[in-house]
Amino acid sequence: MTKYRIAVLPGDGIGEEVIREGLKVLEAAAEEYGFDFETKLFPFGADHYLATGETMPESVFTEFLDFNAVYMGAIGDPRVETGLLEHAIIGGTRFKLDLYINLRPVKLYAERLCPLKGKQPKDVDMVFVRENTEDAYTRIGGIFKEGTADEIAMATMIYTRKGCERAIRYAFDTARKRDRKKLLLIDKANAIRAQDIWTRTFAEVAVEYPDVETDHAYIDAACMWMLKNPEWFDVAVCPNIFGDIITDLGAMLQGGLGVAASGNLHPGRVSMFEPIHGSAPKYRGQNVANPIAAIMAASMMLDYLGQEAATRKIERVVAHNIENETIPSLSAGALPTDEIGDLIAAGVRGPAAALERGA
Ligand code: IPM
Ligand code: MN
Repeated sequence: MTKYRIAVLPGDGIGEEVIREGLKVLEAAAEEYGFDFETKLFPFGADHYLATGETMPESVFTEFLDFNAVYMGAIGDPRVETGLLEHAIIGGTRFKLDLYINLRPVKLYAERLCPLKGKQPKDVDMVFVRENTEDAYTRIGGIFKEGTADEIAMATMIYTRKGCERAIRYAFDTARKRDRKKLLLIDKANAIRAQDIWTRTFAEVAVEYPDVETDHAYIDAACMWMLKNPEWFDVAVCPNIFGDIITDLGAMLQGGLGVAASGNLHPGRVSMFEPIHGSAPKYRGQNVANPIAAIMAASMMLDYLGQEAATRKIERVVAHNIENETIPSLSAGALPTDEIGDLIAAGVRGPAAALERGA
């Protein structure tokens, strides 16, 4: 029996509660689909930092290489300096494992969840391929003469040919596997001329994918079109910082951060899966956080590990429970966290026929 080793890092705030439900669903999927997994818990996050002064030891990144995947909850805590833990733990994992793709599906499961008038599930079904190792995230730059009238703050956006080419290639491969086979490049090369490297690389790679229809939009216009005509979007590829922003917009189109998940990938190597939402410290320990995003992250992890059938079942179970309003909304407290996990796990163990529309 295939056995996976999963590194589990629940992190801060609601991380622990939502990851617990994700593991519950993984357990159900393992039984149903005949695979096995073992987990190792990593304690890093705000509590660990406040108790020990340690953010994320270097050795952990090497240790992660012995796992098939990393499953992460949420990082960030108001008791700790802004960005410190996020940079060390999320950034550290992305950069040190060279997880160059941040894959973010945006899929609407029920019309009532979409804030746009008249948009249905068929209108909101897209995938963002966010470059994940470059751009304004490298911390090249700094602050000089801080707190004085002469203060200077500088952050450099960097793009390498290798970095954008591998993201663009992954996006073309993703588009090729989908029905509509459309790929949109999002950049801001009219104002940020350095992003011309994205425009040129995209055009060069496109020649190798004549079956994929290509398009281009500047980030500001892309945000506008996403609200006006989300049905135009299939797969989109973009630099890191734009991908960060536009995928929160995407999450709202699918009903909020309660459902949005992501995979941080280095295809063929150990990769990391996490919900897009933050740690929501005010909800910690109250059993009100919505664990669906964490469950969907676990489902993306299974897809990455080659358990596509399990992924399809989990997705179908989540969709079914949202469609028939067993899960009435995605807001915190709509149902207790553990009950949502129980529901989804039971559905994964249950017959596929129970998941037909209207069942
Ligand atoms: C995300 C988050 C992170 C990012 C933060 C926590 C550093 O917002 O995964 O989208 O900006 O990438
Ligand atoms: Mn973000």
